[in-house]
Amino acid sequence: MTTAPNTPADILALGEAMLEFNADADGALETAESFSVGYGGDTSNVAVAAARSGGRAAYITRVGDDAFGTVLMRLWEREGVGTSHVTREPGGRTGIYFIARGPAGHGFTYYRADSPASRLSPADVPEEAIAAAKLLHVTGITQAISTTSCDAAFHAMAVARATGTLVTYDPNHRPALWSRDRARAVILRSLELCDIALPNIEEGRMLTGQESPEAVLEGLLARGPKVVVLKMGAEGALVADGAEVTRVPAHHVTPVDASGAGDTFDGAFAARLVEGVPAVEAARYAVVAAALTTTGHGAVRPIPHRADVLSRLSPSVDRRTSGGTPHKESPA
Ligand SMILES: Nc1ncnc2c1ncn2[C@@H]1O[C@H](COP(=O)(O)OP(=O)(O)O)[C@@H](O)[C@H]1O
Ligand SMILES: [Mg+2]
Repeated sequence: MTTAPNTPADILALGEAMLEFNADADGALETAESFSVGYGGDTSNVAVAAARSGGRAAYITRVGDDAFGTVLMRLWEREGVGTSHVTREPGGRTGIYFIARGPAGHGFTYYRADSPASRLSPADVPEEAIAAAKLLHVTGITQAISTTSCDAAFHAMAVARATGTLVTYDPNHRPALWSRDRARAVILRSLELCDIALPNIEEGRMLTGQESPEAVLEGLLARGPKVVVLKMGAEGALVADGAEVTRVPAHHVTPVDASGAGDTFDGAFAARLVEGVPAVEAARYAVVAAALTTTGHGAVRPIPHRADVLSRLSPSVDRRTSGGTPHKESPA
């Protein structure tokens, strides 16, 4: 554990965590006989990734007072992710999901309707903690799971903006959770409220109607964020700040499971950013962290620690990223 669990956090993430049941053998869910337990939920993954990269992270959510809520609490405590903004809901049933592996890839089956996290509301938003933090991370999944959770996300972003806390936003568009029109409206509004947007290329195309990465970046920047980091899978990422576009090549690996790559990218990026590292250098670190995550199964287990990532960054990059002065208001 790198930090005491409930020291004031620099990085806050808001959303839903779930327990994962991953079928041990390939085949349809109907045929599965045993499952390995893991953890999921995009924003929880981000908090863990940030903590493993040395960030002081905390999570804002609701879980049940059931066994699965306890398992998640233990995960965050073990990882040094602060839990003082986690509400245990009496009688609540923490969300779970199942993964079946078939020839066409992974299939996900969720049991999360009416979960405690879907009852997140603006009353759960820790305003003072957000004001005291350096960075708030919000995603479209948190906005999609319920209207009250969406309100919580907007309220958290408003508090962050009013108090000079940097907002990072990942659309993480999941068509199964909401209609395309509602998703577009909420995500486009969120781009206006964030400082740094972290979409992948498919989301960028959906939001802008553009095809080329350059046109997508231009369209996204026009919506308001100061910086857009476009995640490009095996091609790495593009970082645009309105003045220039910097290509950050991927770190070469042999991937076995890409789930959680974008979340690890976001958490690793956030951890470096709050140290005062410029966005491009934070992205150079994040592409390595995200690539390493794809080399193991599950979302959380393979998330790398800081030393694993730094040892794979070239020395010149390492030197340039080591002397930054933390500045709450400097995103790039
Ligand atoms: N096959 C891969 N090889 C190396 N890095 C990868 C690979 N797939 C993903 N990544 C890294 O993970 C990041 C996020 O993955 P991506 O698929 O673009 O986003 P998301 O997971 O949000 O859909 C990429 O920007 C890249 O740095
Ligand atoms: Mg994503």
